[in-house]
Formats: sequence, C-alpha cells, structure tokens
Amino acid sequence: MQFKSTILATALLSVSASAASIPSQCSIGTSATATAQADLDKYAGCETLYGNLTITGELGSAALANVQKIDGSLKIFNATSLGTFSADSIESITGALDLQSLTILTSASFGSLKEVDSINLVTLPAITTFASNLETANNIYISDTSLESVDGFSVLQSVNVFNINNNRYLTSIKSSLKTVSDSLQFDSNGDDAIISFDNLIWANNITLRDVNQASFASLQTVNASMGFINNSIESLNISQLSKVGQTFTVVSNDELTKLQFPNLTAVGGGFVVANNTALKTIDGFKNLSTVGGAIIVTGNFTELDLSSLKSVRGGADFETKSGNFSCSPLKKLQQKGSIQGDSFVCKNGAVSSSKVSSKTSSHSSSATSVVRAASSTISSSSSDSSSTDSSSNGTSSSSSSSRGAGAQFAPASSFMGAIAAIAVALL
Ligand SMILES: *[C@@H]1O[C@H](CO)[C@@H](O)[C@H](O)[C@H]1NC(C)=O
Ligand SMILES: *[C@@H]1O[C@H](CO)[C@@H](O)[C@H](O)[C@H]1NC(C)=O
Ligand SMILES: *[C@@H]1O[C@H](CO)[C@@H](O)[C@H](O)[C@H]1NC(C)=O
Ligand SMILES: *[C@@H]1O[C@H](CO)[C@@H](O)[C@H](O)[C@H]1NC(C)=O
Ligand SMILES: *[C@@H]1O[C@H](CO)[C@@H](O)[C@H](O)[C@H]1NC(C)=O
Ligand SMILES: *[C@@H]1O[C@H](CO)[C@@H](O)[C@H](O)[C@H]1NC(C)=O
Ligand SMILES: *[C@@H]1O[C@H](CO)[C@@H](O)[C@H](O)[C@H]1NC(C)=O
Ligand SMILES: *[C@@H]1O[C@H](CO)[C@@H](O)[C@H](O)[C@H]1NC(C)=O
Ligand SMILES: *[C@@H]1O[C@H](CO)[C@@H](O)[C@H](O)[C@H]1NC(C)=O
Ligand SMILES: *[C@@H]1O[C@H](CO)[C@@H](O)[C@H](O)[C@H]1NC(C)=O
Ligand SMILES: *[C@@H]1O[C@H](CO)[C@@H](O)[C@H](O)[C@H]1NC(C)=O
Ligand SMILES: *[C@@H]1O[C@H](CO)[C@@H](O)[C@H](O)[C@H]1NC(C)=O
Repeated sequence: MQFKSTILATALLSVSASAASIPSQCSIGTSATATAQADLDKYAGCETLYGNLTITGELGSAALANVQKIDGSLKIFNATSLGTFSADSIESITGALDLQSLTILTSASFGSLKEVDSINLVTLPAITTFASNLETANNIYISDTSLESVDGFSVLQSVNVFNINNNRYLTSIKSSLKTVSDSLQFDSNGDDAIISFDNLIWANNITLRDVNQASFASLQTVNASMGFINNSIESLNISQLSKVGQTFTVVSNDELTKLQFPNLTAVGGGFVVANNTALKTIDGFKNLSTVGGAIIVTGNFTELDLSSLKSVRGGADFETKSGNFSCSPLKKLQQKGSIQGDSFVCKNGAVSSSKVSSKTSSHSSSATSVVRAASSTISSSSSDSSSTDSSSNGTSSSSSSSRGAGAQFAPASSFMGAIAAIAVALL
C-alpha cells in the first residue's frame, strides 16, 4: 500500500545506515531513552513498541508517529524545552503513561488512546489541554498542572484510583465513572470547582476538599470512608446513598447550610459532622439508624434531627455554640442504651461563664475536650419531658447507665481512641 510504504521509507530514512532491522527497533527493552525527535523517528515503522520508553532532554516539540501500541510504558520526564507532544496513533499503553516535570509543555495529545494502566500527569505548570479518548484505565493521578478541564476522561466507566489535586485552574469536572474501586480524591484544585459524578454508583473511598458544588446523583454505597472537608459547598444532597462502610465526615465547610442524606441508613465507622459554622439545622439524616463507631456532631447548630438513630457502637459528643439547642432527645437516646460507648457528652452554648476557661482550653484538641467533659460529673437538671426542655443548658455528661461512676476515666480514654482513629481516617 502506498501509505505503508511511505511510512516505511520515512522510517528507513530517519534511521542511520548501520541500523538494525525494524523488528529489533521495535523491541526497546527495559528502558530506552529518547532525547531528540530523531530518536522517536526510529519507531515510526513500529505498530507496537515492546518495552519502556522515556523521553527527556532538550526537545522543543516532539511526536511519536504511527505507533499504535506500547507494550510497556511511556514516560516523558524533565524535558524542560518541550512545548507540545503528540502521539495520536497510540491506542493502548499496557503500563503507565507518565508526564512529569515538563515546565513549558502546553499541550499533550493522545487522540486515539483508549487503554492505559495508569496515567500520571504531575508538575505540568503550562499545560492547558490533555486530549485522549480513554475507555479503560486503572489509575488516574493529576497533580500540580494548569489543566482547566479533564475532558480526556469523560467516557471512562471504572477506575481504581481517581486523584485530582493541586490543579489551580481546574474548576469543573464532569465524569461518567460508575465505580471507583479504591479512592476518589479531589482536593486543592480551583477554588470554586464544580464536580459532578452523577453516574457513580459506588466508590471505595471519597474525599473532597476545596470544592464549591458536588453532585452524586446515583451514589448508593461508599464501601469505606467518605469525607467532605474544607469545602465552600453551600448545599449537599446525596439522595440515593444508603450506606457508608467506614467513617463519614463533614468537617469545616464554612458555607454549608444544608445537608441532605435522606436515605443514609448505616455508617460502619464514626459519624462526624463538625465545625461547619453556618450549618444551623442538621435535619438531613432522618434515616440514619446505625453508627458503628463514635458519633460527633459539633458546631453552631440549633437543631439536630437523628430521629431514626437506634444504635451507636461508640461514644457520643454533641457540642454546639448555640444556646438554642436541647440535649434532652439525645440524652433520652443514651438512657435507652442506644449509645453503647461509654462516653456521652452533650453541651450547648448556654454554658455559664464559669465554664468559659475549660471551653477555651478544650479548643486545642477535641480529644482533650471529650476527656475533660467525660471526667467531669456535672449532670443536667433538665426535666425528662422533651417538649418542655428547650431551656436545657450547660454541660451534660454521664457514663452509660450500666456502668458505675468509677468506670468513667477508662471509657474516656477508649473514646479518645475512637477519636484518634477518626483523626487518622481523615488523613
Ligand atoms: C517496564 O517497566 C516496568 C516497571 O517499571 C517493568 O515491570 C517492566 O518489566 C518493564 N518492561 C520491560 C519490557 O522491560
Ligand atoms: C533535568 O534536566 C536538566 C537538564 O536539562 C538536568 O540538569 C537535571 O539534572 C535533570 N533533572 C533530573 C531530575 O533528571
Ligand atoms: C481507602 O479505603 C481503604 C479501606 O478499604 C483504606 O485502607 C485506605 O486508606 C483508604 N484510602 C484513602 C485514600 O482514603
Ligand atoms: C435531592 O436530589 C434528588 C435527586 O438527586 C432530588 O430528587 C431531590 O428533589 C433533591 N432534594 C432537594 C431538597 O433538593
Ligand atoms: C462496594 O459496594 C458495592 C455495593 O454493595 C459492591 O458491589 C462492590 O463490590 C463493593 N466494592 C468493594 C471494593 O468492596
Ligand atoms: C482548611 O484550609 C485552610 C487553608 O487552606 C487550612 O489552613 C486548614 O488547616 C484547613 N482545615 C482543615 C480541617 O483541613
Ligand atoms: C434507599 O435505600 C434502599 C436500600 O437501602 C433502596 O432500596 C431504596 O430504593 C432507597 N430509596 C431511595 C428513595 O433512594
Ligand atoms: C429509609 O431506609 C429504608 C431502608 O432501611 C428505605 O427503604 C427507605 O426508602 C429510606 N427512606 C428514605 C426517605 O429514603
Ligand atoms: C453561630 O451562629 C450565630 C447566629 O447565627 C452567629 O452570630 C455566630 O457568629 C456563629 N458562630 C460561629 C462560631 O460560627
Ligand atoms: C430556637 O429554636 C426554635 C425551635 O427549635 C426556633 O423556632 C427558633 O427560631 C430558634 N431561635 C434561634 C435564634 O435560632
Ligand atoms: C473543630 O474546630 C476546633 C477549633 O478550631 C478544633 O479544635 C477541632 O479539632 C475541630 N474538630 C474537628 C472534628 O475537626
Ligand atoms: C441553666 O439551667 C439551670 C437549671 O436548669 C438554671 O438555674 C440556669 O439559670 C440556666 N442557665 C442558663 C444560662 O440558662
């Protein structure tokens, strides 16, 4: 064919006279390094390259033409003069595709790429577009780039890892992923990032930070942990989610006013909704029935509705700065034995001024505050009637009724252990 022989001729021309035959050109071994376009031209006659290819050095722009498959990996690394790169014939890379430390690279085009094991795009401060047509990938890691969108991944349906961090111009991502078998992480990208994973049905872990809007319309299960930390999200509605296998965390989201998890029934680990300063009404967990760890709800809320809560395996810590909050429904729950952990703390903001110093010092660590509260013996004098109890105030603290008062100190430390475990899970 005319086309093929042209390729062949080009390939042969670009190869030095003493070069070996084409098949051996295509077998590049554990590591071949290309530092000039001429090195890449040697592979123009290869449909498949066998081995690991690294491109580095003083190339201005570069292309890997004609190669359709790399049975190995492709790494483009520390090519500080490289402005553009294209490999638009490649359909499959069995190993990793790494683009790393390419300071002036503005565009990378892999227009036919359908399959890859991992993609790592790291420290690409000038890149604005990454084109691909990816259908299959195990791991996607994009960090410290100038990408404004990651459309190259829009048809992917399942991955192990999807980790997008520190891409300060990335303000939106719309994904068609259905499953994430290890972790989905999105953090420290563009300030007002809007993300939508509306086809996602389950993910092992999900962690979001610095996001402005998040949508997970189909999400049913988070097998391990889910965390929303330090976002500018105002409202979160994850209506299909029924189960989180380990820790569920919503912490330090300063603009959050509404949380809706109407179908969330079971959280296998700790349940932590804390320090969301604008969150006044916490009524989005009406179906929450079991919590496998400790339950911690702190902040500035006036209303907390956990009306389906039947079982908490760990302790409980409810603290609000608002005085307009009654502890009595929670105390009832604890008195019924629904909160099985040994530590129970419920504080509202109407603490008398003599408590201020202990409140202030408790800010240094939530674990400390729990220990303090749990080892104090102040008991609330509120009546048992919840309807007339809205004036209940102060710090209330007691150990589980089945235990003697002498057991208070040890339980406090086991609760501290639970908090430490949660803190670790947050990292
Ligand atoms: C390419 O590198 C990977 C690990 O980096 C290695 O496992 C593999 O054997 C290499 N491929 C070849 C053909 O040497
Ligand atoms: C990157 O390339 C420059 C020259 O272009 C070289 O001096 C430097 O050592 C390389 N860095 C690494 C980590 O390979
Ligand atoms: C994801 O979940 C697993 C448990 O399945 C856990 O061991 C791992 O640390 C979690 N990873 C992240 C990044 O949260
Ligand atoms: C929450 O989202 C679901 C669909 O995802 C929608 O049907 C429902 O109306 C939303 N609830 C609110 C209060 O916005
Ligand atoms: C996560 O949960 C879903 C739904 O229960 C299940 O189909 C999937 O296999 C689980 N994934 C992992 C990694 O455990
Ligand atoms: C939230 O972000 C700020 C600034 O980026 C940081 O200082 C703070 O530690 C973060 N808080 C949490 C809980 O991650
Ligand atoms: C709630 O979750 C259950 C599974 O626990 C599911 O059968 C049901 O359809 C869900 N309901 C809604 C309204 O999402
Ligand atoms: C509450 O949970 C049950 C399953 O335990 C489910 O059938 C029901 O649909 C849930 N309610 C809502 C409002 O999603
Ligand atoms: C708590 O809410 C009140 C009233 O809405 C507000 O004035 C106050 O600043 C909030 N405190 C904190 C620490 O967010
Ligand atoms: C205090 O709570 C009551 C009933 O829960 C509510 O009607 C009222 O608006 C709240 N006041 C403030 C200042 O939040
Ligand atoms: C809430 O904020 C306080 C004070 O900033 C901090 O001590 C505490 O650890 C935070 N709680 C959580 C669960 O992040
Ligand atoms: C708290 O309640 C006690 C008795 O229940 C009452 O004497 C006291 O005045 C109340 N303090 C505040 C600040 O509401």
